[in-house]
Amino acid sequence: MIPVITLDGPGGSGKGTIARLLADRLGWHLLDSGALYRLTALAARRAGIDPEDEARVTELARTLPVAFEVGEDGTPRILLDGREVGSELRTEQCGADASRVAAMPAVREALLERQRAFRQPPGLVADGRDMGTVVFPDAPLKIFLTASLEERARRRYNQLKEQGVSANIHSLLQELADRDERDANRKVAPLRPAADAIVLDSTELGIDEVLQRILDLARERELA
Ligand code: C5P
Repeated sequence: MIPVITLDGPGGSGKGTIARLLADRLGWHLLDSGALYRLTALAARRAGIDPEDEARVTELARTLPVAFEVGEDGTPRILLDGREVGSELRTEQCGADASRVAAMPAVREALLERQRAFRQPPGLVADGRDMGTVVFPDAPLKIFLTASLEERARRRYNQLKEQGVSANIHSLLQELADRDERDANRKVAPLRPAADAIVLDSTELGIDEVLQRILDLARERELA
């Protein structure tokens, strides 16, 4: 069985960064499942499709022409319709649109097999909200990464600033709180730790410490 480490948690918890570093360290593949929901929302917006139109958004999710590549400098590149998607994918607007389309059961179903196809040797690090509960329930190591809302808003603010995206910390905090509420209370695949997940609160921890703890757990379970 190809091993998977799942990394779930709310927005801004540092999952994305940790997942990328972890995949690098282990030499494993990486699934950024949030990007699939963001891409679906972005493609709907570009096509002028109402994000609440479940049938059309589901069709789009099923046929999404997306490619995940690694650029020459080692950074991940995401292509939609053959064109690179830049910072547009990371805006809070896109995150909010993504959490709306992600609440639709048929959209989630349409993306399920696409996500499972990332499970390739020698292993996979899967970042999302329902990686441990729905997509890879048999994963041998499941991490649920949290941090306080204030800390997550601060991290998201710094991340956006670094990417040259303008942001306001107060509205970011509100947007993250709204998104958490929607993700945690939806009927399908709500944001919650799997029963066998290890919950890590990173409010007071640096990236290296979180990474080291997960690597230690992976070694204890003889995955690395
Ligand atoms: O992780 P990211 O912020 O990119 O995710 C954007 C949105 O996509 C989340 O707020 C959530 O609603 C949705 N999502 C999801 N299931 C996943 C990953 C993301 O519902 N596995």
